[in-house]
Amino acid sequence: MATRLSVNVNKIATLRNARGGDNPNVVQVSKDCERFGAQGITVHPRPDERHIRYQDVLDLKEVVKTEFNIEGYPDARYMELVLKVKPTQATLVPDPPGVLTSNAGWDTIKNESLLKELIQELQANGIRTSIFVDTNLKNVEGAAKVGANRIELYTEPYASKFHANKEAAIAPFIKAAKLAKELSLDLNAGHDLDLHNLKYFAQNITGLDEVSIGHALISDALYFGLENTIQMYLAQLEP
Ligand code: PXP
Repeated sequence: MATRLSVNVNKIATLRNARGGDNPNVVQVSKDCERFGAQGITVHPRPDERHIRYQDVLDLKEVVKTEFNIEGYPDARYMELVLKVKPTQATLVPDPPGVLTSNAGWDTIKNESLLKELIQELQANGIRTSIFVDTNLKNVEGAAKVGANRIELYTEPYASKFHANKEAAIAPFIKAAKLAKELSLDLNAGHDLDLHNLKYFAQNITGLDEVSIGHALISDALYFGLENTIQMYLAQLEP
């Protein structure tokens, strides 16, 4: 089955917030992303609400018809929001509050008891839980141990090495993905995926369930339009 595309709409909220009004409208853009073929909508509310606001998440809950994925650092406010909204998927990310963007995966060994407890609570509420990890095999093993349904592989290291040497860039991801599948973990990926590096990634990673893409996709939409851009990304994911 083809890898599913979840569009991260944080950048739409960033643009809206720049002027303080409601243009572009995050709910409308999300509905349009779905209409144009996106198979999921991802949001990543952060405590300072500098892009997606907690209210956006509540508003989106009412309209998203595909897979709704809420990423974030699992502080009390995130957990309260996710348990209220009950999205299809929660993706736990180990972001310290002030960070510009997610820049590392979980140390699943150090955080074993915390992750176990959070995942149990989310799953007891019917929410599939994914955790953001790097390609360190110990962290992938740890993800299975804490009971995650999925992992999301942090692809920035792949994207940054892709142009110099794509075989070397993908190698650790192939190993981590293989182990994830052996451990019965489903597999997502995200961060810095774009029209240059996505096809090669999807073709080489067996069993890639979903990618979530924000920055590059929204930037490409400036040139190609949102509908064309989503179709272009979907074409990269065709088997
Ligand atoms: N996955 C996670 C956990 C993220 O934090 C982000 C950025 O919000 C993404 C995926 C999407 O990354 P990008 O915006 O580079 O496509």
